[in-house]
Amino acid sequence: MVIAEPVMQLPRHVAIIMDGNGRWAKRRGLPRIEGHRRGADTVREIVRSSREIGLKALTLYAFSSQNWSRPMAEVHTLMELLRDYLVNERTEILENNIRLTTIGDESRLPDFVHGPLNELKTASAGNTGMILCLALSYGGREAIVDAAKRLAEQVQSGSMRLQDVNLLSFSEALATSMLPELDMVIRTSGEERLSNFLLWESAYAELYFTETLWPEFTRAELQAALQSFQGRERRFGLTSEQVRLRATK
Ligand code: IPE
Ligand code: IPE
Ligand code: MG
Repeated sequence: MVIAEPVMQLPRHVAIIMDGNGRWAKRRGLPRIEGHRRGADTVREIVRSSREIGLKALTLYAFSSQNWSRPMAEVHTLMELLRDYLVNERTEILENNIRLTTIGDESRLPDFVHGPLNELKTASAGNTGMILCLALSYGGREAIVDAAKRLAEQVQSGSMRLQDVNLLSFSEALATSMLPELDMVIRTSGEERLSNFLLWESAYAELYFTETLWPEFTRAELQAALQSFQGRERRFGLTSEQVRLRATK
């Protein structure tokens, strides 16, 4: 008798709040920006690992709507690092069949980011291996307001009926509608909050918090998070018995 290998129950879509760059640098007596630089190296490593592991989508919280209020010099360097990432990772992203997308208010990004960002989005549009979604100038509340506006406009113009505003049409009005259902949110650096990230989408996502600072986050830690995901029972409001009954059907 052949015993089948247990199939690892992988989350389809993982989102990461990449936090702790500043503290990583501070602990070493380095400027915060050094932490961001090291953080960008971690991004490379984790994108590669996610693709190899077989995630369908990875969303990275790279810059929040609220992060614009940080000191101007830090914001500027973060934008430069973003541009460098897009330029340097272009080949790797394309060769690995990764599709790059974004969520957030792109209009606020500087022109030197727009160029490489739009170019890579277009060049990778047909890729099917994994979606890499960068949350840039992103806020979950802002995204919900945007979706509400979009629906209101449609109702006002008569192209949608008020009674058709429901969970499904609302989800479809969000910028994340092109991504698979969000299964897991990881946050590094020991903070246990969402900080305005994917508020609607995380309704039933499994949360995973680790003390590790983002520059020190590794593939092994990602795997530990995925392992933790496997051990969880997602009940979606049902009883445990109902969930188990469904799984055997
Ligand atoms: C996360 O690291 C990166 C961004 C928010 C852009 P932080 O810069 O927030 O690092 P800490 O929280 O100050 O350590
Ligand atoms: C969340 O981290 C935003 C990103 C990781 C891009 P913050 O460091 O901005 O969040 P708070 O301020 O600790 O809540
Ligand atoms: Mg932080």
